[in-house]
Amino acid sequence: MEDTSKLNTSKLGTKQYWDDFYSLERENFKENPEDVGECWFNDSDAEMRMVDFLNDNIGSYNIKSDSSIIDLGTGNGHLLFELFENDFDGSMLGVDYSEQSVNFATEIAKNKGYNDSIKFEQADIFQNNWNPGKFDIVLDKGTLDAIALSGIKFDDGKTIVDIYSKVIEKLLDKDGVFLITSCNFTEDELTKIIQGDSLKKWDIVKYPVFEFGGVKGTTVCTVAFVKQ
Ligand SMILES: C[S@@+](CC[C@H](N)C(=O)[O-])C[C@H]1O[C@@H](n2cnc3c(N)ncnc32)[C@H](O)[C@@H]1O
Repeated sequence: MEDTSKLNTSKLGTKQYWDDFYSLERENFKENPEDVGECWFNDSDAEMRMVDFLNDNIGSYNIKSDSSIIDLGTGNGHLLFELFENDFDGSMLGVDYSEQSVNFATEIAKNKGYNDSIKFEQADIFQNNWNPGKFDIVLDKGTLDAIALSGIKFDDGKTIVDIYSKVIEKLLDKDGVFLITSCNFTEDELTKIIQGDSLKKWDIVKYPVFEFGGVKGTTVCTVAFVKQ
């Protein structure tokens, strides 16, 4: 059977694509400060479902209203802003390898008057010398999807997707939670990619199920893992 966790490459897997994308978003925002740009998986209401999941699970593992949170591939930073608007008041860090994304998210934060508990930083999360510390919660909305499309492979034959779980392990404390939303990977595929000796699947966020040609499915899936 085909291993669907190995996707084809695409321009969405290049930094240039995201620099151009967020450069345009910044221009639109300058013209209209109400336009904070694209939020991935808005059609599925993924952002609110992730926020609601964390709110509903306050008290479980390291989820607290003042949890430290890092958002990998933060884009316009909207997921962190939404958490802030929904009473999460711990330190938050949005990371993205696109300078344009980081500038854009920082400009929105300034424009909306968010206090400096929400910070943004430019970094490639796969760089060995990138060590932002440990967090209670790690978030990914659409970032592994983009990473998978880069098609990057290493000398030992491993792909960039194969080493993604090591990045998450490095960032989480014991009982820390990793919440990921993907449109390219199913729940089973995400579990295969992320689960290991220390990261275990904990829960999923439910989405409406569609049926087409006798096959049932959802357009995106959100899975929570816990570090043991
Ligand atoms: C599909 S967008 C999602 C953006 C945001 N999370 C959202 O939901 O709107 C993927 C993001 O991942 C970022 N990204 C891709 N590879 C990365 C890497 N190796 N390190 C840091 N950011 C990366 C891109 O620049 C882009 O902002």
